[in-house]
Amino acid sequence: MSEEIEMMIKEQLDNTIKETNFESLGKLERGKVRDNYFDDGRIIMITTDRISAFDHVVGTVPFKGQVLTQIAAFWFNMTKDIVRNHLTDVPDPNVMVVRKCEPLPVEVVVRAYLTGSAWRDYKAGKDISGIKLPAGLKKDQKFDKPIITPSTKAERGEHDMPISREEIIERGLVDEETWNKIEEIALKLFARGTEHAAKQGLILVDTKYEFGLLDGEIVLMDEIHTPDSSRYWYSDTYQELFEKGEEQRSLDKEHVREWLRQHGFSGDGSPPPLDAGIRIEAARRYIKVYEQITGRKFEFLKVPILDRIRKHLKDAGYLKEEE
Ligand SMILES: Nc1ncnc2c1ncn2[C@@H]1O[C@H](COP(=O)(O)OP(=O)(O)O)[C@@H](O)[C@H]1O
Ligand SMILES: [Mg+2]
Repeated sequence: MSEEIEMMIKEQLDNTIKETNFESLGKLERGKVRDNYFDDGRIIMITTDRISAFDHVVGTVPFKGQVLTQIAAFWFNMTKDIVRNHLTDVPDPNVMVVRKCEPLPVEVVVRAYLTGSAWRDYKAGKDISGIKLPAGLKKDQKFDKPIITPSTKAERGEHDMPISREEIIERGLVDEETWNKIEEIALKLFARGTEHAAKQGLILVDTKYEFGLLDGEIVLMDEIHTPDSSRYWYSDTYQELFEKGEEQRSLDKEHVREWLRQHGFSGDGSPPPLDAGIRIEAARRYIKVYEQITGRKFEFLKVPILDRIRKHLKDAGYLKEEE
């Protein structure tokens, strides 16, 4: 990565957006990463620069909000022929205006490789969301075909729990017909993501989708194929590293999780503050994944971000003049 990019990131270290407070946008519900303003059937989602790991907000990363929004917008556009999605407007590179849906209480995880929590469960002899995998698989091994390993949507502060397809239907979380459709859609989305990522030299390893209902129709909501909701590995080194049993080169949050683990944090207690080094490295990776996926150069917008967002929201008529 060029020195110029490193300079831009360093300049931004003290100018990340931690939170927003735009009262006239609607009722604010703060998620881990986004500030969501609800108003009637609409949500204005401002993606901040907060980064979460192990279900905790652990700090901020320069330009992360812009990267996430722009990657999600890119993929929503590229997959809109497969399923309707919630996005209606992107008035600023950090802001998505979406239709409010009735969220289904299940997160739809699709995995093409045995890694992460699925690998840990497999190694411990557990099944993966009710799926029994054959014996003798290795870490990071590719499955014959992608598998769906749903999890429940955890309440605030709780961890998501794996759940089987059977249990989802038995407990009436989603009816069978709807769930069948969701599985079909999720696999199509994943196939589209895999195909495009491959052209860009990346492997879409696994991802999480969230769906909701709108007038009875299934709608893709939340985010799609971002480095927060997905794992990405470089394709060219996959095979060699796999055969040697070494860690894959990844372009997602794994690097930050690893740093936290090395600093004694894996979800319990309070996280250590991220130092400048890890924040810069994380920003470089987020920017890299944006450029790699979209094939576009990342645009460093110099204006203080909050002022820029405020201006764009006013210009588009979402925010009252006086705010
Ligand atoms: N179109 C939508 N309608 C209703 N809820 C949504 C929609 N899109 C996303 N959400 C929800 O809004 C929240 C997004 O904020 P985020 O910061 O990602 O929160 P979290 O910490 O829960 O992941 C999530 O709870 C997500 O499920
Ligand atoms: Mg989220």
